[in-house]
Amino acid sequence: MGVGPPVLRLSGVSKTYASNGGHSLRALREVSMEVGRGEFVSLVGPSGCGKSTLLGLIAGLEAPTDGAIEIAAETDVSPGRVAYMPQRDLLLPWRSLLDNATLGAEVGGGDRAVARKRAQSLLPSFGLEGFADALPHTLSGGMRQRAALLRTVLLEREILLLDEPFGALDALTRAALQEWLLDVWERLKAAVLFVTHDVEEALWLSDRVYVMSRRPGSIQLDLAVDLPRPRTRDMRGTAGFAALKQRLLDALLADTA
Ligand SMILES: Nc1ncnc2c1ncn2[C@@H]1O[C@H](COP(=O)(O)OP(=O)(O)OP(=O)(O)O)[C@@H](O)[C@H]1O
Ligand SMILES: [Mg+2]
Repeated sequence: MGVGPPVLRLSGVSKTYASNGGHSLRALREVSMEVGRGEFVSLVGPSGCGKSTLLGLIAGLEAPTDGAIEIAAETDVSPGRVAYMPQRDLLLPWRSLLDNATLGAEVGGGDRAVARKRAQSLLPSFGLEGFADALPHTLSGGMRQRAALLRTVLLEREILLLDEPFGALDALTRAALQEWLLDVWERLKAAVLFVTHDVEEALWLSDRVYVMSRRPGSIQLDLAVDLPRPRTRDMRGTAGFAALKQRLLDALLADTA
């Protein structure tokens, strides 16, 4: 983890949803975790274990039932402290790509003209040059994901929360976007908390990977990924990579036995 205090710290965070039938649903159980400044951390775990719930708590959309969340050593977790990309891209169908990209900055009270200018200048590095005026339905899945990421990046926060950003894409597009994301991350120097079901993706991108248990989700494993940077595709074929992958799979499978 980087130098200095972590930019994000969760201590004993639990979340129980009250439901209408009088039953309550325990989504998270005493989750403690940290993300260092500029660190790339992934979160893997079975479907329904509470990953999106956890991101929602960090983004300040809901409050934990128990425990504490600190962002940059402060307990103020009001919406807008972090840049959050939800599990679905949520582009507004009637707004152009550029207008979608600047939406978050506008809602956050930023200057529209400044946000548009910055978005324009970033289009080429997001592979979206020439598509500023395109409506979402005329874009490919990968382009929509990049547009949603552009919107997240334009918020200029120290922490990016990305919930399965490449979940619905084919393997080739996904591989290309993984490389591109590392490139963007290295330039931004922001911390990333990245949710994925793909253990190879998690390993290849991250400095560390947290494995969560089944619901109620808790942290099963905190795995440091000691592969050098910059990461290259051929690292996926190394014995070191295979050993890390096995540890992740063991932790995931131990829980389903
Ligand atoms: N607003 C809510 N009210 C009640 N229950 C909820 C709410 N949001 C999530 N849950 C429940 O909390 C549990 C965790 O859901 P969550 O979406 O966090 O899982 P997840 O790990 O992101 O799953 P996936 O990998 O499928 O995206 C689920 O059982 C879900 O039904
Ligand atoms: Mg989810």
